[in-house]
Amino acid sequence: MTTNKLNVVLAASEVDPFSKTGGMADVLRSLPKALKQMGHNVSVFTPLYNFIDPNKYNLTKIIKNKQLIIDSSATVSFDVWRGEIDGVVPVFFIEEKKFLSRDYGQDKKIYTGNFDNARFLIFNLAVIAAIKELDLKPDIIQCHDWQTGLIPYFLHTKLKTDNYFNKVASLYTIHNLTFQMGNNWWEIPLEKREDGTGPIPSFSNQEGIRLINFAKRAIRFTDIINTVSERYAEEIMTKKFGNTLHHLLKQRKNRVFGIINGIDYADWNPATDPGLVAQYDYNNLANKTKNKLYLQKFLGLPEDPTIPVIGWTSRLTEQKGIELIIKIIEPLLRMNIQLVILGEGTKRYEDFFKKMSKRHPKKIAAMLNFDNRKETMVLAGADIFLLPSRFEPCGLAQLKSLRYGAIPVVHAVGGLADTISDYNPKTESGNGFVFKAYDPYDLLAAITRALENHKHRDKWLKLVRRGMRQSYDWKIPARKYIKLFRKTIKYHLDHHVKNQS
Ligand code: GLC
Repeated sequence: MTTNKLNVVLAASEVDPFSKTGGMADVLRSLPKALKQMGHNVSVFTPLYNFIDPNKYNLTKIIKNKQLIIDSSATVSFDVWRGEIDGVVPVFFIEEKKFLSRDYGQDKKIYTGNFDNARFLIFNLAVIAAIKELDLKPDIIQCHDWQTGLIPYFLHTKLKTDNYFNKVASLYTIHNLTFQMGNNWWEIPLEKREDGTGPIPSFSNQEGIRLINFAKRAIRFTDIINTVSERYAEEIMTKKFGNTLHHLLKQRKNRVFGIINGIDYADWNPATDPGLVAQYDYNNLANKTKNKLYLQKFLGLPEDPTIPVIGWTSRLTEQKGIELIIKIIEPLLRMNIQLVILGEGTKRYEDFFKKMSKRHPKKIAAMLNFDNRKETMVLAGADIFLLPSRFEPCGLAQLKSLRYGAIPVVHAVGGLADTISDYNPKTESGNGFVFKAYDPYDLLAAITRALENHKHRDKWLKLVRRGMRQSYDWKIPARKYIKLFRKTIKYHLDHHVKNQS
C-alpha cells in the first residue's frame, strides 16, 4: 500500500513565480516539485490573475468557455490554461473574467478585500469542475489557506454522495490563521459572524457572500487539518493565537498536525547563487566577507569587515515584530553595528525606516523595493539576521539566513521556535539567538548577546558553519506530507465512504 503512487491536487491563490505576496507562494512552488520527485502524480490549481501574462509563461488554453452554475441566481463561464512550474509540475490556471480574473484597480493586485469571497467562491467551484472535466481522479486535494477553504466544505456537503468526488479526501493547510476570509474577520460585527454550518447564501446576496468564513468552514468540514510548523499547530489551539477558531480546532485536535516547511536547497545555495559577487560555502567563508564589503559599498555604509551587519528581508508588517524594533532603534544604533533593511509593507513602517536612514546614514540603510536578487545580497552580506515576529506560522527567512551564514535572532514562536535554538557559547550548541517574551528589552538583550558572541571570531565561524550545514531541504517535509496524505485518505475512506455503504 505505502509504495502506491498518489494522485495529488494542490489548490492555492498564490504560486511563485506567477503570483506572490508571501511565503505561501514559495511553498506552492517547492512542495509540488518535491512530491513529484518522489514519484507521485501532482498538479496545481491557481487563478489566472489579470497581471499574469500567458505568453511569458507559455500557457496554453485547454478548456474554453466552460459554464459554471454557482446557484439558481448566477452562472459564469471560465477557461482553463495549462502551464508548468519549472518544467516539472503541471499547473492549471482558472480564468473567469467577470469576478475572479479582472483588474480591480487596486495596488494589491491579488486581493481586493470586499470582492474576494465572491471571487474565491467561484475559484473553488471552478477547480472542482475542472478536476472532473480533466478527469484528474485525485486521491486527495490539498487546500492552502482560506482562499481554497470551500473545496473541503463542498466535498463534504453537496458532493458527499457524488460518484466522482465521494472518495476524494481533503487536507486543509493553514499558512496563517489571521486570514480567514476576504475581509478581516475581526472587522465583522460579532452578531454577523457565521458559525459555518448553514448553506452558502445565494450569490445574488452580496452581503451574505461577504460574510462567509472560508477558514471556519474548511476547519469544520475537511478530513484533516495541518499547519506549517508543529509549534504553530499547538499555538492555534490557544486563545492567544487562535483568532477565535481555537475552540473549533480543539474539538478536532486529534486531526490537527504540524509539518515545518522547507526551502529548496538547490535554489537557495550560496555556492551557486549567480546573484552574488562571490559564491561561497561553509569551507570558504572568506568569500562571504566579499559579499559583506560589497553590500556596505552598495548602500554607502562604511566598508569595514569588522562591524557586524544586521540584516532584515521580511515584509514590513506588524506580524514581523517591527513595533519592537521601533522601540529599541536608538540604543541599537548607538552600538557598533550596521542595520540593513530590505522589505515592503505598511506605509508607516516604510516611512519610519526612511526617516531613520536619513538621520543615521552611516548606520542604517533601507531598501524599500523588495526583489529576489537583493534578498540574497542582504543574506550573503549580513552577519546577523533579525526576525522578531509576534507570531510566525513557519517563517522561511530564518531558514534562508542559516543557509547563507547569517545568524538569526528570533522570537520563540511558531516555526521560529521549531527551527532556531538558543546558542550556548559554553557547550557550543544552538544555531541562533532566541528570546521568549515579546518585549523590546528581550529583543535588545538577544541582539546584544549575538553581538558579544560575534567578537569571538573562531567560535562564531563555527556557529555559522554549523547553520550552513544544517538541512531544511524540502525533501524532508515532502516525505512527511506523503505520510499525512495517506493518513488523510485512510481517514476519509474509513469515516465517509464506509458510512455510506
Ligand atoms: C505565511 C506565514 C509564514 C509561512 C508562510 C508559508 O506567510 O506567515 O510564517 O512561512 O505562510 O507557509
